Amino acid sequence: MSDSDNRQVIGRKSFAAVAINCAAKAGEWIKTKVGGYSTLNHKTSHSDLVTEVDKGSENLIRSLILTHFPDHAVLGEEGVEPGPEASIAAINELKDAEYLWIVDPIDGTTNFVHGFPFFSVSIALAHRGEVILGVVYDPSKDELFIAEKGKGAYVRGRRMQVSREEKLRDSLVATGFPADRDGALLLNMRQLEAVAPRVRNVRTAGSAALHLAYVAAGRLSAFWEIGLNSWDIAAGALLIQESGGVVTDLEGNPYHLGVRDVVASNGAVHDELLKVLRSASAE
Ligand code: IPD
Ligand code: CA
Ligand code: CA
Repeated sequence: MSDSDNRQVIGRKSFAAVAINCAAKAGEWIKTKVGGYSTLNHKTSHSDLVTEVDKGSENLIRSLILTHFPDHAVLGEEGVEPGPEASIAAINELKDAEYLWIVDPIDGTTNFVHGFPFFSVSIALAHRGEVILGVVYDPSKDELFIAEKGKGAYVRGRRMQVSREEKLRDSLVATGFPADRDGALLLNMRQLEAVAPRVRNVRTAGSAALHLAYVAAGRLSAFWEIGLNSWDIAAGALLIQESGGVVTDLEGNPYHLGVRDVVASNGAVHDELLKVLRSASAE
């Protein structure tokens, strides 16, 4: 059999099967490295971390994807220069590709570094700018969240459904503290000050992708964060949409690959949350 024939046979595996395989393999390997990484570097600030395990995970995922789909584009966090400008340029350049895989090889590197078991592998596939597949894998709990466009979202074989709270006062919401200490973090603090007294409680566990998956699973009523990148959001956004929830930017515009300030919810509390966040941002 020639090389090209062989490639076609391998390529017959479904997108979802490849994404699950990538996330599971990478996640299992990452778990063996908790407490055992060897190189810790800083990116844009003292709280923006990267280890050789982030890079190894991305290499593993990238090569598995390209083994099956050699013509697809892959955007991975560790293949992009640190900082918002390079991230924005990278997604703008690739967003209209026929097939684009968007990969966060470890979402929650700070947690990984500290041995706090709340980090994930996030893998999305977009077709001409629209996310059609999303997988978020939590290796600590061996929990895999998956959604395919139009086919629903599942965890542990069960269909996911967003939560039913109708008011912020009954809601458990989450946010993330941005690494950009002088800009995004200050705005996030003002938003937190406005949101906290209005909700049942707030959680900040340190993996945007996993927080989004928890909104999809009905474990959180909503999540918001500013200054995120495409690889933090893409898979989680589809999980939520396919679970009956809503994902927008801070202005309430529908989610697209360029969104960085994300507001995600069960739908019922969305407008109320947007209003509180926007009033805090306007101050
Ligand atoms: C980070 C995590 C964190 C969020 C940060 C992200 P990383 O991703 O999602 O929860 O607050 O804004 O950058 O750097 O661990 O992949
Ligand atoms: Ca991330
Ligand atoms: Ca990451």
